[in-house]
Amino acid sequence: MKNICVLVSGGGTNLQALIDAQNRGEIKGGRIICVISSKADAYALERAENAGIKTRVLVRKDYPDIAAYSKAMTDVLIEEKADLVVYAGFMTILDEQVCKAFPYKMINVHPALIPSFCGKGFYGLHVHEAALEKGVKVSGATVHFVTEVCDGGPIILQGTVAVENGDTPETLQRRIMENVEWKLLPKAVSLFCEDRITVKDGKAYVDL
Ligand code: GAR
Repeated sequence: MKNICVLVSGGGTNLQALIDAQNRGEIKGGRIICVISSKADAYALERAENAGIKTRVLVRKDYPDIAAYSKAMTDVLIEEKADLVVYAGFMTILDEQVCKAFPYKMINVHPALIPSFCGKGFYGLHVHEAALEKGVKVSGATVHFVTEVCDGGPIILQGTVAVENGDTPETLQRRIMENVEWKLLPKAVSLFCEDRITVKDGKAYVDL
């Protein structure tokens, strides 16, 4: 069984999707052992507690810089014996030392079709604002490995939804979450835990 640590910062609907999938027996070969939040008041912490999962809080402001914060996070993940680290709405960019400690062992869900609307500054509702501003007709979400390039790691799974006339950032976000994120993130986590993802020449190959 692989030890899964989930990093969160907010509402935690993706964490809930992982917990629900785990309860349905759909995360094969892994178990969520710890949820780590960058915010003390994140509702995601309550979701973890309700599911009987250990929680920890590492607040960015408590550390002088991103290097010190990344070091603290790396230490905690090693202490928890994490085999897989899942960024589920985790809004702090960590530096390369975390990636070096967990190479191709960290997965992120991003609410757009990478390489569109991604990178620094593209997070949460800002992503959907930018997509609507551009007038794209499809959007979606991407599950990918985390590397030192923000949103630049090998793509594992992607799914799309149609953008509808009259969409707001909130309605588009909700459609993408319901139809793509909450399905593909648990699926990618299970595929990882079953050793069905390989990375070659910077690309991820999934044994579906
Ligand atoms: C999700 O849409 C997730 O894809 C996005 O933030 C939301 C978190 O919701 N993540 C990012 O933008 C990361 N760059 P949640 O806390 O309810 O899972």
